[in-house]
Amino acid sequence: MKMDEAAIETVVTAVKESKKYGDTAEATIRELAVEALRRYKKPKQAIKAVRAQLHSIMAPYLGDPDYDAAKTMVTAVFASGDEAQVRTLCQDLMGHHLSTRERLSLLDRFYREIFAVTGKPDSLLDIACGLNPLAFPWMDLPFSTQFYAYDIHEPRIDFLNHYFRAQGLAPLARIQDVALQFPQETADVALFLKEMPRFVRNYGDLGRPLLEALRVRWLVVSYPAVSTHGGRNLTNRYREFMAQLTEGLPWTTTEILFEGELVFCIEKGGGES
Ligand SMILES: C[S@@+](CC[C@H](N)C(=O)[O-])C[C@H]1O[C@@H](n2cnc3c(N)ncnc32)[C@H](O)[C@@H]1O
Repeated sequence: MKMDEAAIETVVTAVKESKKYGDTAEATIRELAVEALRRYKKPKQAIKAVRAQLHSIMAPYLGDPDYDAAKTMVTAVFASGDEAQVRTLCQDLMGHHLSTRERLSLLDRFYREIFAVTGKPDSLLDIACGLNPLAFPWMDLPFSTQFYAYDIHEPRIDFLNHYFRAQGLAPLARIQDVALQFPQETADVALFLKEMPRFVRNYGDLGRPLLEALRVRWLVVSYPAVSTHGGRNLTNRYREFMAQLTEGLPWTTTEILFEGELVFCIEKGGGES
């Protein structure tokens, strides 16, 4: 049966106009709208269902800076040419999103220890990036690095390209739903930080196919080591989860346990997927 295009449009428009979820990539909203309208006849119910799914996918409760103000601050701080001020601003902005806020105290060691395992990349993918590309000043990588970043939050990606340009990097941040289209770019390292549990919850069996499809030599997949609510230790649970996710694949895994974040550096081998 052909789907009612008008109903799809109604749902997409309503969600796109909402304050909380309107920043989401239209392709993501459209896909969820089509799915929701298979389950619910009335657009009103479908809109409610899409919003509920976006709550889990976009996780707006993790926080955001004011992106227009952030762009202005980035322009000003790079005009000052003061490296220390650049770092301070990047830290402040990362502090607005829980995933990066939790990593702030690790920044001096995090990429040094990861790249000690993977080697320093000439190219990297940051998948479901959030504000993590702002950690570039702590990565000790040259400005020639091909730094691709993917997210479905439109103002965030627009801001990250503004930052990349100011930083002297190519503006390679992309609005891309990686569940609808796996990244195709070839790189040395792919980061998939603190998103796999949500990804598997939202998209079911897509976790392993995503990792298999990535055209990189190294996968760097991380998990929170402690739960946000209640402070339970999650290390063993995610160790087992990661082992299951890669079971039977000829990949070599090196674990790094930071305070608060459990990181797996996985060598896919051969330099190609
Ligand atoms: C928990 S945050 C992690 C941010 C970052 N990786 C970090 O550790 O700092 C998850 C991010 O994934 C993005 N995201 C969720 N589903 C996505 C999808 N299907 N495609 C691209 N990005 C997605 C969200 O918009 C959000 O910015």
